[in-house]
Amino acid sequence: MFQSDLLNGHRILVTGGGTGLGRAMSERFLQLGARVVICGRRKAVLDEAARQMMRDHGGEVKAFGLDIRDAQAVDAMVEEIFVERPLTGLVNNAAGNFISPTEALSSRAFDAIANIVFHGTFYVTNAVGKRWIDATRRAGGWKPGMPMNSVMSIIVTWVENGSPFVVPSAMSKAGIAAMTRSLATEWGGYGVRLNAVGPGEIPTEGMSKRLNPGEDPGARSRQNNPMRRPGDMSELQNLAAFLMSGGCDWLTGQLIFMDGGNYLANGGNFYPLRDWTDDQWREARERIEAQNARDRAQRG
Ligand code: COA
Repeated sequence: MFQSDLLNGHRILVTGGGTGLGRAMSERFLQLGARVVICGRRKAVLDEAARQMMRDHGGEVKAFGLDIRDAQAVDAMVEEIFVERPLTGLVNNAAGNFISPTEALSSRAFDAIANIVFHGTFYVTNAVGKRWIDATRRAGGWKPGMPMNSVMSIIVTWVENGSPFVVPSAMSKAGIAAMTRSLATEWGGYGVRLNAVGPGEIPTEGMSKRLNPGEDPGARSRQNNPMRRPGDMSELQNLAAFLMSGGCDWLTGQLIFMDGGNYLANGGNFYPLRDWTDDQWREARERIEAQNARDRAQRG
């Protein structure tokens, strides 16, 4: 779909780039000639992902171990990146989510998600954006025709209609949508564009284990999606590469939903779980907490 040197000269930070959607987008950027930086909480997982990507495609992938909930750590990482070579793109992919009846959430459970998705995404975006703006000002300002820097944030279709059973995520992702639209106008004059992408179900381990625990990944989409299938990773990779490239710089401030039409047809959210029994919720929680514990054990 793209020329193999489409992203030559680009340097892109992908948060949560060691696994799942983030890893797949990183890999496509690398294939298209970009230098890539990935960050996340599990340094060993990131190092291994970087090693495999460079083995398979050559090029440069740097890995930083940090928690985006820590604003100081985020700023220190972004400073280190920019001192070496400024970024041209940012993909806000890191997130946390799990299904739960809202009345069963503790304040710490709400904070665990809101601190990653709502606060963390802002910390990273502002740490990168202020350096872009500073460099632009020092260079005498940005003018039409000059290259632009691009931010793409992963959101969800339920920023449009809300969703039961994932309320901290729905609230936080709606905040990212508001950030995208707000900064598209505030930073457009500095040569920065921001868009958000809400993918439907593209099965990954982190997502399937926390949002459809115990189910065959993709089964719901095969039954209910208008296109009778889940999304393919290559579709997100291509959309991300397009948004990171300079091929359509006038596109900014947009929320792009890529879900085979599912949210238009079925709401695309977790309303169908209203029929779950207490036992089903108990079982789901046990599976989710086991996955959380496995992830925690891999953090430094
Ligand atoms: N139902 C209700 N509460 C839950 C829960 C569940 N299924 N899973 C976790 N919690 C609660 C915990 O009990 C804890 O609250 P408490 O201290 O009051 O008991 C709180 O959430 C924080 O859990 P903890 O595991 O300590 O958080 P963490 O910071 O280690 O992990 C998460 C953050 C919970 C968001 C975890 O799911 C995560 O790291 N996710 C990242 C990857 C991801 O979610 N990917 C999928 C995106 S679709």
